[in-house]
Amino acid sequence: MDRLVITGGEPLFGEITVSGAKNAALPILAASLLSAEPLTVNNLPRLKDTTTMLSILTQMGVETRAFDGGVSIRARDVRHLEAPYELVKTMRASILVLGPMLARFGAGKVSLPGGCGIGARPIDQHIKGLEAMGATIDVEQGYLVARADGLRGAHIVTDMVTVTGTEHLMMAATLAAGETIIENAAREPEVSDLADVLNKMGAKIVGAGSDRIVIEGVAALAGATHTVMPDRIETGTFLCSVAACGGDVVLHGAKADTLDAVIVKLREAGVTIESGADWIRVAAEHDSARERLAPVSIRTSEYPAFPTDMQAQFMALNCVANGTSRISETIFENRFMHVAELGRLGAMIEVEGNTAIVSGVERLSGATVMATDLRASAGLVIAGLIAEGETRVDRIYHLDRGYEQMETKLSALGAKIRREAEPR
Ligand code: EPU
Repeated sequence: MDRLVITGGEPLFGEITVSGAKNAALPILAASLLSAEPLTVNNLPRLKDTTTMLSILTQMGVETRAFDGGVSIRARDVRHLEAPYELVKTMRASILVLGPMLARFGAGKVSLPGGCGIGARPIDQHIKGLEAMGATIDVEQGYLVARADGLRGAHIVTDMVTVTGTEHLMMAATLAAGETIIENAAREPEVSDLADVLNKMGAKIVGAGSDRIVIEGVAALAGATHTVMPDRIETGTFLCSVAACGGDVVLHGAKADTLDAVIVKLREAGVTIESGADWIRVAAEHDSARERLAPVSIRTSEYPAFPTDMQAQFMALNCVANGTSRISETIFENRFMHVAELGRLGAMIEVEGNTAIVSGVERLSGATVMATDLRASAGLVIAGLIAEGETRVDRIYHLDRGYEQMETKLSALGAKIRREAEPR
């Protein structure tokens, strides 16, 4: 296992490029199963999770050909309509292959995703929606086994807003007979990016990006070429890193209009942000005269409100802010695992139910901490960049699931950060 070793206190200067979005790439890769013709995906982030999704596809018999910056996928001969436990257990988004298999081949089998660090995360809405389209789904030996004699359009109102649930049902509906309406749909930009790819493949989807998506089923989908949208959470994580350390950085390939809630909060904290169509510049004082950041209270919610995937990073900033802030997590019930680790660095945080009350301190001091999930890891890296002395972030395989070469990008900006093997 690897860990990151960070010596805090260095300001960040320079320019880096944001990678393609993990949470857009995963459903887009799964969508390749909907067509026998090639899907070419550009700006694919090289991550543990995208590799897992490609492994699921290749063990099904799908041809994949990687090239610099992307992959070409052809699901012509799909031999095994199954996603095995060994792969699914490492990534819950694996469930996204079920709907496409069912829609195109009338059958599919996916291991039930196991427990997860950030809460129970049920998939009942995915199952109910596919059943409403005519599928029968049973649990057999730990697998969801789905069958359908041709899916048919349905009027679906999900009980809660679910991102992958919306994406899953939207994909299945592209090949269902007749019209599907998804109400209470997730409005995340990744849903729109997926809808763009599907429409390029010949699907008839309108309303993606709103809470009502209408899909008119078609008989077959064709191939397409698509460039994955920039990763808004990676972007936000780098914005917070500069806020934490001070400095002046331009992020290329970043889209500010997918980050409005985050940018508002960073400005409230005292950071300067400018943006153009495909770049964001972030600047924060970094010399000894620097004033501490202002505390910012946040409440996570569905897009376009403040994203749960940026909660841990803002908590790290609030740890050294000039005052007290409240962070309420409304999406996942167990997403405060970084609190105890931040405490090891000297942060003062109390948790009451789904709210963390953070009393800003003047400084954090380096220690060994353990990453517990992907975004918690990003929060700990930011805390390490702030802390005096050396911080070791253990178990960064979580970070590698969702950030492409984070330490290389931060080093390029002047951070003192290196990867090393954890001693056994
Ligand atoms: N939920 C249900 N039943 C369902 C589906 C969801 O009860 O059938 C609940 C969940 O338990 C949760 C809430 O609804 O309390 C929202 O969950 P959602 O389904 O939206 O989450 P997700 O689709 O599993 C995606 C991202 C997450 C991100 C969330 C929220 C992907 C692959 N994952 O998860 O990303 O936190 O939306 O925005 O798109 C990450 O990248 O670190 C990450 C965890």
